[in-house]
Amino acid sequence: MSGVLPVETLADRGPLDGARVASPGHGTHPRVLFVSHTGTMSGAELVLRDAVRPWAGSTALLFEDGAFAGALRDLGLKVRLARSGAALTGLRRDASPLRALPMLGRLGGLALEVARAARACDVVYANSQKAFLLASLPARLVGRPLIWHLHDILDGAHFGRAQRLVQARLANLCAARVVVPSQAAADAFLRAGGRPSLVTVVPNGLDLDRDPRPAAALRAELGLPAGPLIGVFSRLAPWKGQDVVLEALAELPGVRCIVVGAPLFGEDAYAAHLRDRAAARGLSDRVLFLGQRGDVPALMQAVDAVVHPSVDPEPFGRTLVEAMLAGVPVIATDAGASAEILDGGAVGTLVPPRRPDRLAAALAELFDAPDAFVARTRRARERAIARYGAAEMQRALADLILRVAARA
Ligand code: UDP
Ligand code: GLC
Repeated sequence: MSGVLPVETLADRGPLDGARVASPGHGTHPRVLFVSHTGTMSGAELVLRDAVRPWAGSTALLFEDGAFAGALRDLGLKVRLARSGAALTGLRRDASPLRALPMLGRLGGLALEVARAARACDVVYANSQKAFLLASLPARLVGRPLIWHLHDILDGAHFGRAQRLVQARLANLCAARVVVPSQAAADAFLRAGGRPSLVTVVPNGLDLDRDPRPAAALRAELGLPAGPLIGVFSRLAPWKGQDVVLEALAELPGVRCIVVGAPLFGEDAYAAHLRDRAAARGLSDRVLFLGQRGDVPALMQAVDAVVHPSVDPEPFGRTLVEAMLAGVPVIATDAGASAEILDGGAVGTLVPPRRPDRLAAALAELFDAPDAFVARTRRARERAIARYGAAEMQRALADLILRVAARA
């Protein structure tokens, strides 16, 4: 998808405009308050974990405890858990703003906590949609600039009309910058009514040092016999589309699949549905549900193809880049950022979302003539290394924070 309106990309950014602030980690630097609504590690939290490395000594305000809090502490951040954070837990991110009405008292308490923490800092950095909604007005009230790292696609597939409008308006009013991981996410923000001059695209960056483990050994560990094997690596959620892979698999006799990931945000019914579906389609002996794993890069090297089947537009999709780095063919749905990451399909196969038949056909083509995919897979890896490294993302985000602090 191409940009509908111009937004700032990394290449457009000028030098720090005469900033008096030094780089993070060297003498005086702005005090940043990183705000996150969740203590669970999904893609957005993994991004922030890598982005905060130069900001040891800064504060993170989390609305709930969890693995993310521990990871940030290990990196030298002062982690504070908001006392009223639980107020948000029951509120779905796509809920109508009216649903928040009965919780106004508790949400007000949380906003006050954010305002107090913001006053002690120079810049507020909201790493999620809920964090932004809670931090936007308090940051403005205490006169601190706010950066919103928007990891979502603000479109009709993910959010209702009122939600989109409220978020775009609040951003226009309160945000000093809105960072998005892809042009697709930028386009959606603009279509929702966000101001183009606010937006900077900073693609997600990943650790480029892989830890290769022999595929055969891994397969043996998992009890998988030799033969065609695909993998789908994502938290389990309806919009991530794992059910489409099961339907495609039913058309591909002899092909096995590992499903890696867990329902991180309460999608247990969907997880149960996937297992039922696999059984109903007679796939139980060909599909292995591995749950949440800490060795995704290694597991990716053990499969013959990674499928990225999201049925709604994907804001970025770290697992796409992880698959490219693993040197494995990628088949992804053409929704959201996949096309820009896979160079319009030049370094991976794009199929329409919600089409198991097309996915099955693409996989069959791959298994029929794997050699035809070797050069493309090599180019995918080169592209991932050139564009999606963690160091570049970290530098870009630090630069952006310094510029916002200098302007304030
Ligand atoms: N991941 C993981 N273990 C799992 C499943 C996923 O560590 O069992 C990681 C995966 O490697 C990726 C991240 O979780 O780095 C998911 O990020 P992505 O941007 O693909 O999707 P999100 O879940 O944030 O929408
Ligand atoms: C969100 C998005 C995912 C993105 C991640 C990090 O979780 O769903 O596409 O890669 O944030 O930006």
